[in-house]
Amino acid sequence: MIIAIDGPAASGKGTLGKRLSEHFGFAHLDTGLLYRAVARVMLDRDLDLNDRDAAHEVALNLDVTHLDDPRLRGAQMGEAASVISGYQPVRDALLAFQRQFADQPPGAVLDGRDIGTVVCTHADVKLFITAAPEERARRRHLELQKRGEQTEYSTILEDIRRRDERDMNRASAPLKPAADAVTLDTTHLDADAAFQAALDLVKAKTASS
Ligand code: C5P
Repeated sequence: MIIAIDGPAASGKGTLGKRLSEHFGFAHLDTGLLYRAVARVMLDRDLDLNDRDAAHEVALNLDVTHLDDPRLRGAQMGEAASVISGYQPVRDALLAFQRQFADQPPGAVLDGRDIGTVVCTHADVKLFITAAPEERARRRHLELQKRGEQTEYSTILEDIRRRDERDMNRASAPLKPAADAVTLDTTHLDADAAFQAALDLVKAKTASS
């Protein structure tokens, strides 16, 4: 079984993906980490983020065994990831790994921007998780504070708006709900309520198919 979760930055899709995967005993892949890992290699090697060929080369040779590196979660990596993720060859290079991951038994949960629309078009359940930009900025602010990163709320809100704009309007795999996705707005839901709502949607979807 495959559960595809898409949504904008800081919508809570990663936390939801993790909890759903634990609930069902499935593997979980936060696909944003793949793009962040490409960005990290680019930045570590002082490569220009606008160099599409270099980004493609890095994506082709990406070592996917260190996706738990806490540095990947930083704001700078998210911003850089959003730049290189607009390059179609980078996306193509990361596709096979994601599809293989999705196909493992007994099931997998993948979250990102294009899981329901490109990576797993045949997913059993597709969720599109969204929340108001201000609420997403508030959550990201708290998360970064907990990690010891001092960033202004207003800067985070600006980053989120810029990333939404870039992710939704790019030519390659723009962020949008799949035609058969169910949208869940978590603006007024805490993490537990969002999880319960998502679980109910997954159960309803799998019971009816
Ligand atoms: O989800 P996260 O914020 O970690 O993703 C970082 C960036 O990677 C996003 O802004 C987006 O541009 C890109 N991304 C993507 N496709 C995915 C996952 C992430 O383009 N499936």
